[in-house]
Amino acid sequence: MVCTVAVIGAGPSGLTSIKSCLDEGLEPTCFESSDDIGGLWRFKEHPDPGRANIYQSVIINSSKEMMSYSDFPPPAHLPNNMHHPQLLSYLRLYAQTFDLFKHIYFQTTVVSVRQRPDFPVSGQWEVETERREGQREIQVFDAVMVCTGHFTQPHLPLNDFPGIEEFEGRYFHSWEYLSAEGLQGKRVVVVGIGNSGGDIAVDASRVAEQVYLSTRKGAWVVSRVGAGGLPGDLVGTSRLDRLVQKLFPSWITMMMEKKLNRTFDHRLYGLQPKHRFFAQIPVVNDDLPGRIISGRVLVKPNIREIKGSSVVFEDGSVVEKVDVVVFATGYNYDFPFLPSGLLTNGGHRLCLYRHVFPPGLARPSLAVVGFICNLGAINPLAEMQARWAIHVFKGLLTLPSQEAMLQDIKRDTSTLQNRFACLERHPLQVDHIPYMDSMAEELGVRPNLLGLLLREPGVGLRVLLGPCTPYQYRLRGPGQWDGARQAILTQWERVAQPFRTRMPCILFLLIILEMFLQLLWSPLVVN
Ligand SMILES: Cc1cc2nc3c(=O)[nH]c(=O)nc-3n(C[C@H](O)[C@H](O)[C@H](O)COP(=O)(O)OP(=O)(O)OC[C@H]3O[C@@H](n4cnc5c(N)ncnc54)[C@H](O)[C@@H]3O)c2cc1C
Ligand SMILES: *[C@@H]1O[C@H](CO)[C@@H](O)[C@H](O)[C@H]1NC(C)=O
Ligand SMILES: *[C@@H]1O[C@H](CO)[C@@H](O)[C@H](O)[C@H]1NC(C)=O
Repeated sequence: MVCTVAVIGAGPSGLTSIKSCLDEGLEPTCFESSDDIGGLWRFKEHPDPGRANIYQSVIINSSKEMMSYSDFPPPAHLPNNMHHPQLLSYLRLYAQTFDLFKHIYFQTTVVSVRQRPDFPVSGQWEVETERREGQREIQVFDAVMVCTGHFTQPHLPLNDFPGIEEFEGRYFHSWEYLSAEGLQGKRVVVVGIGNSGGDIAVDASRVAEQVYLSTRKGAWVVSRVGAGGLPGDLVGTSRLDRLVQKLFPSWITMMMEKKLNRTFDHRLYGLQPKHRFFAQIPVVNDDLPGRIISGRVLVKPNIREIKGSSVVFEDGSVVEKVDVVVFATGYNYDFPFLPSGLLTNGGHRLCLYRHVFPPGLARPSLAVVGFICNLGAINPLAEMQARWAIHVFKGLLTLPSQEAMLQDIKRDTSTLQNRFACLERHPLQVDHIPYMDSMAEELGVRPNLLGLLLREPGVGLRVLLGPCTPYQYRLRGPGQWDGARQAILTQWERVAQPFRTRMPCILFLLIILEMFLQLLWSPLVVN
């Protein structure tokens, strides 16, 4: 019988893991090395090594309705794309509402997680922690949930940039970037066009003399502001849209790229990638085109070498007197506290069944939560992983044989390889709805569309045609939540509310009605 669970980390993944344990009658004990919850979303004036870090200007790139936990809709007044302190306040509210704080030990770092000698029988783990004052303690747990985040180890491939060691200016990884302070009047090269690279280039370009954005592969750039000013991730992302995309993949891809081209021609702007739209997570940035058109950001190819204070690009062009190079070159991950080799089998991808369970264990009593990325938000995925993993811990769900799991990982990896460009740095991509649905199906919480359409067409239509908001996974089955229907029925009100700063009541109601109607043809609107 599994009762005690060690949850490592109190970021968004850890919090929802604690909550899911409580829901299922387990006893969670969470260890958090810092002195507060929130993980990545707690801005730190001084980045701590081994911990995720954000810059002052971070705004969530998925909207609040898509990023919330399934039984905790965001307060209506919060903006759709929150600034990071507001997301932190949402997490705090979640932790307070479900009384999670009392299960968290702060300033306690997990230094080692080992199988007990009788592991094949008991499935138990010895978890060794270290308090800030240096006290060490070993406790035994029936299961472990690893929620330590994957933006912690900066990936700085200096060998790819000959001459960087003798560079006369300053260089650092985006992990260290806090704000544009100190870049006033400087000549800055930002390397890499992921979400961080794009943000930092925009940030810096407001004060720097000139910003150069160097990219090897280019990127598709999407805006948070979608059709009609609605949050971009709420329109064109329904179950029906997903079905259409599955049926006509190349048509939808073409339409999507056409639409992005209409906002700005990616070739003209020097951003045209080789890969197709759905082959890689796009860059979410509302300001980049504006910074490029004003010449504050100049797009450059890959760096060939660095000579003194000059940067030479692959097309032979040279930028002189560079003061700062920022490497937004992504992250590696690391689990220093786990038995070596538990999660890896060579390559960048972790060896995890469904991105959660290491397949080689005699007992499935250790799960990794939140090691995932997709086109949508991560928190609801982490929540689903936690709910699913806990059912496995409790023996309510059985994993396939080790052989079958390894096969599945292999198959999954090669599907990824075919579908997504540059898997090397993005080995964790999944498709939001199919991934959620497959776990939800096993859990018995996947929405029963047909039944809903027949019995409650109002809810059913929204589930089919509306954005796939997380509340859909609380309509039935274990963990069912009575508020889920209401949360789905009122989602557009919560979207509209923060805009309601200058608007009479009747107009507000009209707008909400219109938003719902717009959904009916969202596949057409979007494309
Ligand atoms: C710049 C940036 C912007 C992002 N924007 C979005 C977004 O808009 N939408 C979205 O869905 N996702 C976004 N993400 C992804 C983000 O990673 C997830 O949303 C989420 O924060 C992941 O949460 P987590 O709990 O898994 O990890 P984290 O938030 O990193 O939390 C991990 C926690 O574990 C603790 N910890 C680590 N090791 C130990 C140990 N050994 N012992 C004890 N405690 C430990 C850490 O102190 C930390 O508190 C963004 C990421 C970055 C870098
Ligand atoms: C987008 O524009 C670029 C450049 O004009 C072109 O190469 C590409 O085919 C366009 N894509 C679509 C789908 O229109
Ligand atoms: C948001 O940004 C993070 C960090 O760069 C990334 O992992 C995630 O996939 C992005 N989400 C979307 C919807 O683009």
